[in-house]
Amino acid sequence: MPDANAPKINKGLDGIYVSESKICKVDGLNGKLYYRGYPIDDIAANCSFEEASYLILHGTLPNRGQLDEFSKSLSAERDLPTLVVDVIEDTASEKDPMHVLMSAVSLLPAFDEEADDAGEDANLRKSIRIISKMSSIVAAIGRYRNEGEEYVPPDKSLDHVENFMYMLNGKKPTKQEYDIMRIMFLLQLEHSSNASTFSAMVTGSSLSDIYSAVTSAIGTLKGPLHGEADEMALKMIEAIGNPDNTEKYIEDALAGKQRIMGFGHRIYKTYDPRAKILKKYLLELQEHSAEDVRKLTEIALRAEKMMIDKLGASHGIWPNVDFFAGPLYTAAGIQIDLFTPIFAASRATGWCAHLLEYWKENKLIRPLEYYTGPLDLKYLPIGERQ
Ligand SMILES: CC(C)(COP(=O)(O)OP(=O)(O)OC[C@H]1O[C@@H](n2cnc3c(N)ncnc32)[C@H](O)[C@@H]1OP(=O)(O)O)[C@@H](O)C(=O)NCCC(=O)NCCS
Repeated sequence: MPDANAPKINKGLDGIYVSESKICKVDGLNGKLYYRGYPIDDIAANCSFEEASYLILHGTLPNRGQLDEFSKSLSAERDLPTLVVDVIEDTASEKDPMHVLMSAVSLLPAFDEEADDAGEDANLRKSIRIISKMSSIVAAIGRYRNEGEEYVPPDKSLDHVENFMYMLNGKKPTKQEYDIMRIMFLLQLEHSSNASTFSAMVTGSSLSDIYSAVTSAIGTLKGPLHGEADEMALKMIEAIGNPDNTEKYIEDALAGKQRIMGFGHRIYKTYDPRAKILKKYLLELQEHSAEDVRKLTEIALRAEKMMIDKLGASHGIWPNVDFFAGPLYTAAGIQIDLFTPIFAASRATGWCAHLLEYWKENKLIRPLEYYTGPLDLKYLPIGERQ
């Protein structure tokens, strides 16, 4: 019997607004993205990580003095507590890097005297600590995953992205590696109320602390429908193996009702503007790329064409930011299971900015669920149950 009182249920909170925000506008119909009002193409073309991170946190582009001060405060926070490095050393070679990242971040408040200070200034200082240290943690995870590699302490004279690559590889990045990673860090920095950001806000809305909120967000980002899609997309491209296998592989996968990772989006029903930037960049790199990257790119381009022909205009399923990320990361020498941790290290800025904004007018997030189970059942003592 249909329940006449049943409310309309918006599964996955699809189409539901939960707050107002001035941080990021995702225009899913027109395929546009703005950070604090600035189009993402301009951000990608011009900004350093520090500049974009300042913009997202503070709401305006920094002047020279503000940028210098912000950059200094970020670089000053790069060191990790010894215990955190020890935990990474003990776990990174065998455990899922996202689990290691989550554990390491959850340890940080134990070393922060301001951990439970809920004041706005303290939360901003903690945001800077989190943004800075998460990159150090991910680099340390990357080192300890490879046998014989040790932790490389930060070099505070380098900028955020350069230092990340230095801590990861023990040497400064080439210009190409730096450019790729700058773009990746910038494009993943913020994306409005996505699943992980909402997760951070749910935790934050109970007036829990910022470390707990960011730890929740990391757990949410880990899923293949969210942050892990970039890894899955590259695994698929690698599994296709030969460009001439691409069309049949996609055809078979769709016929078997599989989801093609790196395509589709809850908000974008057209080409994700971030994917456009990554594709353009990948094509520009093509002639300078190694053979393996050229092959991955060719497969990606053929898969993209096939997906757009089959599901683009007809179903609104287009490439998202995760699809071209894999070949680019490969060109920068990044191992596949670091993609999502790097995404997290970049998105830390967005998570913190949303928490700072939401706490200005906090309200506990507590949605409803419509109960459809039985009522007034009779309690049976355990001996009388079948
Ligand atoms: C991101 C995603 C979860 C958003 O989807 P959503 O708005 O919740 O929509 P749904 O999951 O309900 O999908 C709607 C329909 O499109 C199909 N679809 C969505 N994404 C698809 C994909 N990548 N490949 C094939 N089919 C897809 C679904 O199978 C579903 O079809 P159906 O109505 O016949 O069952 C979804 O597109 C997806 O799973 N993409 C792959 C993972 C990914 O790349 N995530 C990163 C996002 S940035």
